[in-house]
Amino acid sequence: MRALLSLQAGGPETLKLRDIDEPSPGPGQVAVAVHVCGVNFPDLLVIEDKYQLRPTRPFSPGSELAGVVRAVGEGVASPSVGERVSASLPFGAMAEVVIVAADRCTVLPDAMPFDEAAAFQVTYGTVHHALVGRAGLRPGETLLVLGAGGGIGLAAVELGKALGARVVAAASSQDKLDAALSMGADAVVLYPRAFETVDQAKAFTEAVRAACGGEGADVVIDPVGGAYAEPAFRSIAGQGRYLVVGFAAGIPAIPLNLVLLKAAQIIGVFWGAHMARHPEAGAQDMKVLLDLYVAGRIRPRVSERYGLERGGEAIARLGSRGVSGKIVVDVLSSESRTNS
Ligand SMILES: NC(=O)c1ccc[n+]([C@@H]2O[C@H](COP(=O)([O-])OP(=O)(O)OC[C@H]3O[C@@H](n4cnc5c(N)ncnc54)[C@H](OP(=O)(O)O)[C@@H]3O)[C@@H](O)[C@H]2O)c1
Repeated sequence: MRALLSLQAGGPETLKLRDIDEPSPGPGQVAVAVHVCGVNFPDLLVIEDKYQLRPTRPFSPGSELAGVVRAVGEGVASPSVGERVSASLPFGAMAEVVIVAADRCTVLPDAMPFDEAAAFQVTYGTVHHALVGRAGLRPGETLLVLGAGGGIGLAAVELGKALGARVVAAASSQDKLDAALSMGADAVVLYPRAFETVDQAKAFTEAVRAACGGEGADVVIDPVGGAYAEPAFRSIAGQGRYLVVGFAAGIPAIPLNLVLLKAAQIIGVFWGAHMARHPEAGAQDMKVLLDLYVAGRIRPRVSERYGLERGGEAIARLGSRGVSGKIVVDVLSSESRTNS
């Protein structure tokens, strides 16, 4: 079978397509014939050895997949061979057959195509855990979303609306803001690709506060970090909750006097650890999210797709900061698809 492999630490150009032996499932595991793999920012970090997780090489990047169960290991009652499933895993999804723990698989509704299923679990799962599990977002509250045109960002816009919040979307290009508006954002704020001066950062704080109705946001979800975190935090409402989700622009520092002055909470979000510690709660969250999908309330925006041989390019596109929506990789070749 074909797999895209990281053989040495480095950028997406170091990934190589290789033929390797097909793996077999052990007890409690299933083998999935992967049709589509969703691309996420951590894929870029993990191949560069910049992620909290350092897999032993060779390994394939890719942390979410959708496909068909090909074989099941001892003791697996569900899913069954032939069922359409999605799954999230720390890495490994850019390969034609992947071994996954049976309890990490979600059986897909018939209405959900593989590309949307592969672009769903990580972003919506993380955002649901953040907004519901960590922040307790309530209907009528104002939610500020940074990086609102990215994978996490668009899921936060959509889920924030589905939870009854007023959503303010902030991003670095009009394209990304248009995408956020198409997902239901109530107001948008354009920020520059870098703050050249302190005044620009202050203007961003003021623009966000105004877009949030003058008081600031009750909840901020931040997958961007870097120079954006402090000016965003300065705009938060009194007793607001600031969700630390990711650092696409770098790891920021927030002066703690601001936390005191706002009587605010800074809340860490680590969906992978949550799923590992509480798989049954994660499965329940996924059921809630799939019900919202089937009801037409949420739907990932797949904006670009690449073949497995171009998986490195797909990962590089995320590093370019030019994507609005989700990128997916078609893992199963069209030839195999016809023959399967
Ligand atoms: N905590 C968790 O459990 C968890 C789970 C999944 C993902 N994450 C993290 O969440 C973050 C976002 O992931 P994602 O999959 O949504 O990524 P994404 O689709 O690439 O979105 C990231 C956004 O960050 C902004 N950005 C700012 N500086 C950037 C830079 N130098 N390079 C690339 N993007 C930059 C971009 O928006 P603008 O151009 O509009 O600023 C971009 O749309 C990542 O740090 C990821 O590791 C965390």
